[in-house]
Amino acid sequence: MVDVHCHILHGIDDGAGDLTDSLEMAQLAAENGTKAIFATPHCNMPGFFTNFWNSELEQRLSALQNAVKSRGIELTVYPGQEIYLADGFAQKLKKGELITLNRSRYALVELDFYERENEAYKKIESLVSEGYVPIAAHPERYKFVGENPDAIAKLRRLGALIQLNSGSLRGAFGTTPAKIAHAALLQESADFVASDAHSQYSRTPDLSQAHEYICENFSYEYAHVLFRTNPQRIINDDEIR
Ligand SMILES: [Fe+2]
Repeated sequence: MVDVHCHILHGIDDGAGDLTDSLEMAQLAAENGTKAIFATPHCNMPGFFTNFWNSELEQRLSALQNAVKSRGIELTVYPGQEIYLADGFAQKLKKGELITLNRSRYALVELDFYERENEAYKKIESLVSEGYVPIAAHPERYKFVGENPDAIAKLRRLGALIQLNSGSLRGAFGTTPAKIAHAALLQESADFVASDAHSQYSRTPDLSQAHEYICENFSYEYAHVLFRTNPQRIINDDEIR
């Protein structure tokens, strides 16, 4: 499996605190069948995490990749960010202050949980018009998605792909996100299921239960698309859909 959303890069957001945490997360992921992971720290979030991409972050990522390798953990760590869609995101992407997943066309993006619906669509459209393919991180957790049963379909019509959180399937974020996630899986309108892991203790990078759940309740083939085929297309920068 490939995990396209994980706060495994240490010491820069509310995920892994230090390199030891990162390595324990890496070990846990690898032990449970994850072969590759995108490090996607929060960024462009005014007042919380700016984390504009720079040589310090590049070095931090290299340190993590080298440590994973030297411990013999069979996990490839790819660069990425979870881009908060605050003002100026498109320009910052162009300037390289924000980066896409493995520097592909695919940008993992998050919105305020209370984002106004029309604003959300405008932001997605603006990314698409710049040639990016936005991957909406955990839309099942957004208020406007809970209020409009057509919201996921609309995001997709505008050109976004949909990433559900593995925790949403078991109700970790409440009943509404769980219902939305199940409906999206039923309609096959989700494109990825990822851990959005923040730690090795809770909200972990173990995707095995979510994978098993989807195999049993939906289909093995769909699980394959969500956890393998589509993420591999990001790695290769190939077209999805
Ligand atoms: Fe996240």
